[in-house]
Amino acid sequence: MQLRSLTLPDHPAVFAPMAGLSDAACRHLMADHGAAWTVSEMASAKAITFGDKKSIALLRDAHPHGVYAVQLFGAEPETVAQAIGIIRDKGVAFDILDLNMGCPAPKITSGGAGSRLLLDPALCGRMVAAARQALGPDTPLTVKMRIGWDGDHLTGVEVARECERAGADLLAVHGRTREQMYIPPIDPAAIAAIRQAVQIPVLANGDITSAAGAARLLEQTGCAGVMIGRGALGDPWLFERVNAVLAGQPEPPLPSLNRRMAALRAQVYEMCEEKGEWTAMPQARSQAMYYMKGLKGAASLRRYCSMLEHFPDVDRLIDTACRLQD
Ligand SMILES: Cc1cc2nc3c(=O)[nH]c(=O)nc-3n(C[C@H](O)[C@H](O)[C@H](O)COP(=O)(O)O)c2cc1C
Repeated sequence: MQLRSLTLPDHPAVFAPMAGLSDAACRHLMADHGAAWTVSEMASAKAITFGDKKSIALLRDAHPHGVYAVQLFGAEPETVAQAIGIIRDKGVAFDILDLNMGCPAPKITSGGAGSRLLLDPALCGRMVAAARQALGPDTPLTVKMRIGWDGDHLTGVEVARECERAGADLLAVHGRTREQMYIPPIDPAAIAAIRQAVQIPVLANGDITSAAGAARLLEQTGCAGVMIGRGALGDPWLFERVNAVLAGQPEPPLPSLNRRMAALRAQVYEMCEEKGEWTAMPQARSQAMYYMKGLKGAASLRRYCSMLEHFPDVDRLIDTACRLQD
């Protein structure tokens, strides 16, 4: 797949942006296990134009592993364009710029951003056009969206067409409306309708937890690739399994407990190095919980995760988890 100057795999499996979860350590792990590219946590274009250092820090990755996209959310085309200029001036390195048109959180939609944009397809087009102009011709511009706002406003097809017309290079479509948040199963037919409406590549997103699930969703939607979020947390090997199956190769075996625990330890270690233990450890609790999935004693291990305070606690958690599996 070619996105402007960037050459990418033909059937990419991409690591989804997740605020509070897809930090640098998490992205590096996913990239090292085969994610075709990774996306930052979302940052506010408006906050960036106000000079908010934390928002810029969210996007900065001193040593990105592989292809790296930064994601902005905003409600006004001019603000997004200005924010792109600022992050460039501040030296934030990125390969792809992604616009958030999918976030369902009221604190984002109440300001007109995220999935609220889906109610105004023409505005979505203007957002993309402004971002396109600010980026220049070489940098790929992608859009992360949902299939609509609610059952009465299934605007995904219109939004996709506007985005394509305005210069978007790829769309990632989470197969739910805003109203559905994360609960009912995704709607592959709605993703397929969006895919059929545009010429640019579309990634199918939502609830992929296995290589077979990824292959099935590609077959159902005809999409060029997949985007995977929660399913890869605690299981970065999912990208290796998906890549193998999409390439027609045998699926690699699941990782051993030791490899899983070593990955958890390395991830939390990198988080502590990047942000300091004080900031990292509360965030490490939710990452650690994903690694406990499917283990014997998972409920008590998850309680243990919620009490992680210092890095050595991770080693104690791992010892306990391993002992419980004997
Ligand atoms: C905790 C959490 C945070 C998220 N943050 C973002 C975000 O910052 N930007 C975005 O576009 N989507 C965000 N999403 C949506 C995911 O990218 C993805 O579309 C959704 O989780 C469905 O995919 P999955 O089932 O593979 O996780 C978030 C989802 C979760 C669960």
